Amino acid sequence: MTEANTVRFNEEALSWDSNPSVQLATALAHKAYLARLPPPEILSTYDIMDLGCGTGLLSLALAPSVRSVTAIDAAEGMIAALRSKLEQQPPTPGSNTTPNNDPDNNNSPNPPAPPPPTNIHPIHTLLTSATSPLLHHDPLTHLPTPTPRRFDLIVSHLVLHHIPSLPTFFATIHDCLHPGTGRVMVTDFEDFGPAARQFHPESKMDGVERHGIQEGVMREVLEGAGFVDVKVERAFEMGKEVETEPGSGVLGPAVVFPFLICEGRRAA
Ligand SMILES: C[S@@+](CC[C@H](N)C(=O)[O-])C[C@H]1O[C@@H](n2cnc3c(N)ncnc32)[C@H](O)[C@@H]1O
Repeated sequence: MTEANTVRFNEEALSWDSNPSVQLATALAHKAYLARLPPPEILSTYDIMDLGCGTGLLSLALAPSVRSVTAIDAAEGMIAALRSKLEQQPPTPGSNTTPNNDPDNNNSPNPPAPPPPTNIHPIHTLLTSATSPLLHHDPLTHLPTPTPRRFDLIVSHLVLHHIPSLPTFFATIHDCLHPGTGRVMVTDFEDFGPAARQFHPESKMDGVERHGIQEGVMREVLEGAGFVDVKVERAFEMGKEVETEPGSGVLGPAVVFPFLICEGRRAA
C-alpha cells in the first residue's frame, strides 16, 4: 500500500458506506464467502481477520457467524468509522422510537436496530508482518497474548488491486494463519481485459496498482506463498455505472464486472 492510498482512503472514509457499489459488492462477497465456509457450528468457533476492512462492512456482516473478527486497515479514517459504528449505544428497552417508513403499515413502529456486535476488534495498521505487536491481543478478552494471534480464516475484499506486491501480501497472510488448518479467502474484481480499467473513475486511479486480478496470476501467487488446496474461480458478477468518457466524471450505463474468489489453506 502506498501513501497515496492511505490519503485517499482517509478522505473517502466518511462517504464510503454511501456508495451503492461498495454496499452491493460487500453483500455479494459475503454471500460468496458463506457459501464456501464450513457450517455454522464450525464457523462459529473461528477467529478471523478482515485485512483491509475499510469501514468494516464485511466485518460487521461476518461477525454474527464467527467467534471474533480482527478488523485491520491502514487508513485511520476507515478504522475511526468502524469504531464509531461499534460504539453506538444499544437502544434502551421501551425506547422504540424508530419511525415506521412502511406506507402499508401505519400502526407499529419499525423494530429497533440491533446493538452493534461486541466481537470485532479494530486495528489501525498497515499489516506487513505476522509478528506485529498489535497481533499480541485476544480480540474477545482484550488481554495480551504471549505470542501473536493466529487465525482460522483471513478474508480481504476489494483490496488486492491496491497492493503493490501480491507475493509479499500473501506471505504475510500465510504466516498469520494456523498451520495446517488456517484458510485465506479473498475477493476482488477480475482483470477481464482493457474494459476492467473502467472500474475506477480516472480521478481515483492514484494508488490503483492493477485493474483487477487474473486467475492464473492469483493461482501462482497463492501457491508461491505456500498455500495448498488453492482454488481461484468466478464468484459473482456486479453491474457498476462507469464514466461515459474517461475523466468526464459523468457516470453512464453500468458495465458488468466479474469478481474472482481466491482460496487456499496453510500447509501443516
Ligand atoms: C478499496 S478499500 C476496501 C475496503 C473494504 N474491504 C470494503 O470492501 O469496503 C481497500 C482498503 O484496504 C486497506 N489496505 C490495503 N492494504 C492494507 C494492508 N496491508 N494493511 C491494512 N490495510 C490495508 C486500505 O487502507 C483500504 O481501506
